[in-house]
Amino acid sequence: MSSYTAIAHTNIALIKYWGKRDATYILPYNNSLSLTLDRFYTETTAQVATKDTFVLDGYPVSGAALIKFTNFLDILRQYGQTDQKLAIRSTNHVPTAAGLASSASGLAALTLAATKALNLDLTKPELSRLARRGSGSACRSIYGGFVEWQKGHDDSDSLAVPLATDEQTTLDIAMIAVVVSNQAKKISSRQGMSNTVATSPFYPAFVKSCEADIKAMKQAISNNDLNQVGAIAEANALKMHATTLGADPPFSYFLPETLHVIQVVKTLRQNGYLCYFTMDAGPNIKVICAGSQSRTIADQLKKALPNLDLAIAKPGPGAHLISH
Ligand code: DP6
Repeated sequence: MSSYTAIAHTNIALIKYWGKRDATYILPYNNSLSLTLDRFYTETTAQVATKDTFVLDGYPVSGAALIKFTNFLDILRQYGQTDQKLAIRSTNHVPTAAGLASSASGLAALTLAATKALNLDLTKPELSRLARRGSGSACRSIYGGFVEWQKGHDDSDSLAVPLATDEQTTLDIAMIAVVVSNQAKKISSRQGMSNTVATSPFYPAFVKSCEADIKAMKQAISNNDLNQVGAIAEANALKMHATTLGADPPFSYFLPETLHVIQVVKTLRQNGYLCYFTMDAGPNIKVICAGSQSRTIADQLKKALPNLDLAIAKPGPGAHLISH
């Protein structure tokens, strides 16, 4: 029986997805915009089998995690009108301490490998819609480079669209992951966003500001204006994190070290280095800078933060098959 192996790369949002208007179909309140990265990816192999099994990073998955995974496969099976079971093996290629979530690359690679094994030959928009049902941000990892997740009206049109048709970017951009902590976060992004939507009075203001931020970000990207890209992304991330402080109960993903790294980035900027930061549902920082300057900036960061791990990533490709 043929097996299919797919690779999908992780993506980091410059304009954040933070909140679902429909939790079953994973429909967001606002459009988001991300950069797919070359350095971090998931490789997943799928093959028809007598029952669903899932081996993640070499270990069989069981219990609640297996049920969640099987439920997602049911969505794919329903789409393809088939009841075939699948054996899946998935490996995350994220440097051990990169502190990056792998749900986006994981669900995107799984969607491609599993639908192929189920004998479905789907278009990228179809793959993006299905990946979204597994984890919202995964819909963006179907494409490379800069990608916009259009919130859409319903399940049929909430999907990612690449900003450039060739999936390449002419903007010289890199992201440096700065690892503040590689401990599993206490509040998952799913739980964090749901608590925020339900209770934070700041949430509607965040959604509203995303509309303007998306427009400005697209303009900055098409102008190849890295300074603007960084400034808009940094402000957008801070607005997202501000919503969590207004939640009931209030929470924050910041650790004391997170603030220290932010201070270092700001000082570098004052000293003439073009660098900005963004952060997701965890304490780690991603520094946005020019690809051509990424080594110099990483050296500066390392000097100021000698105990923290760094990893430089550049724009990466969309999900693709590597063997079948
Ligand atoms: C802060 O896509 O992991 O990284 O849809 O519940 O699986 P679910 O959430 P997920 O959330 C990502 C949130 C974020 C911002 C972003 O990637 O846009």
